[in-house]
Amino acid sequence: MDKVRLDGELSLAPVTIGMMNLLEWGVDKKNLLSRLHEYLEMGLTSYDFADIYGGGQCEQFFGDMLRLEPSLRDKVEIITKGGIVYDRLRRPYFVSESYNLSKKHLVSACEASLKRLGVDYVDLYLIHRPCPLMDPCEVAEAMEKLQKEGKVRKFGLSNFLPEQTAALEAYTEIPFLTNQVQMSVKCMDFLADGTQEDALKRKMPLMAYSPVGGGALHRADLSRKDVETVGVLQEIQEEIGAQCIDEVMYAWLYRLPVTVIPVTGSGKKERILHAVNARQYKLTREQWYDILRVARPEHVSKKYHDI
Ligand SMILES: NC(=O)c1ccc[n+]([C@@H]2O[C@H](COP(=O)([O-])OP(=O)(O)OC[C@H]3O[C@@H](n4cnc5c(N)ncnc54)[C@H](OP(=O)(O)O)[C@@H]3O)[C@@H](O)[C@H]2O)c1
Repeated sequence: MDKVRLDGELSLAPVTIGMMNLLEWGVDKKNLLSRLHEYLEMGLTSYDFADIYGGGQCEQFFGDMLRLEPSLRDKVEIITKGGIVYDRLRRPYFVSESYNLSKKHLVSACEASLKRLGVDYVDLYLIHRPCPLMDPCEVAEAMEKLQKEGKVRKFGLSNFLPEQTAALEAYTEIPFLTNQVQMSVKCMDFLADGTQEDALKRKMPLMAYSPVGGGALHRADLSRKDVETVGVLQEIQEEIGAQCIDEVMYAWLYRLPVTVIPVTGSGKKERILHAVNARQYKLTREQWYDILRVARPEHVSKKYHDI
């Protein structure tokens, strides 16, 4: 499988394995190790973490697995993120998310990730979310320090809007190589907020998290709109000969002009394969729009014309 080039020094697999739900997969370290070998044979070399996944335990689990076979480190690309914190002290019964992009926090968060993962460096470090209180000079200083010390090879962003990216990059020479955002038939905000155009302008790939909407279209209690969406996906599944509607959802993302690297969340190999198989399908413009029309009707004009 051809890799996706982020710059002259870093490429990722065309499908990245998301590790947020790792602790729910019901695997032990040896199972995970053999899974990793199977994925490696298929060219799936990229793994996506964040310091907050499983409260750090997802990184720790993967790190413990890597310690069983340290030579695997250089065969994979490890992506992780920092910047989200959980405030729990000021209101005793609540845990609430906030963001901390201070130099001190970013550096210590990254170093803690390295320790849990048991590695000297990560290939890609993403600033997890924009923070209204961010001092761009501090973010830049943290990035420069981490890169200079060899702890991070390359940087990217996650959940950043174009203006937020522009504000940050005005303070550093280090390029942001990707933006990881929610993209799927269930979440099409990226079409309306300038995210796709910004990535096209920068000639950078987008990493699509929750590419099958977290499995939302497979639940028993679907809304009327979701039932209609599933109906259209099933029709297109038949038309293109796909195995399931998830493959159609991936094909919908691959049809975009921007390069999309889906970040899958499933713990099941066969479901990861849907993301890989779907690369062979090219939806027609009409099929792509049929999905848009049913999933995000407000995105197209309501005018009908007699023909
Ligand atoms: N940057 C960010 O802010 C951010 C935010 C969220 C996530 N992420 C990254 O994106 C990755 C993927 O996120 P996600 O888990 O939401 O992605 P997803 O691939 O859209 O959803 C995966 C979930 O859907 C379920 N699922 C998939 N196909 C299914 C089917 N046919 N029937 C029933 N259930 C099905 C999976 O269950 P099974 O495991 O049983 O297959 C799993 O729980 C995460 O691991 C993380 O790395 C990043």
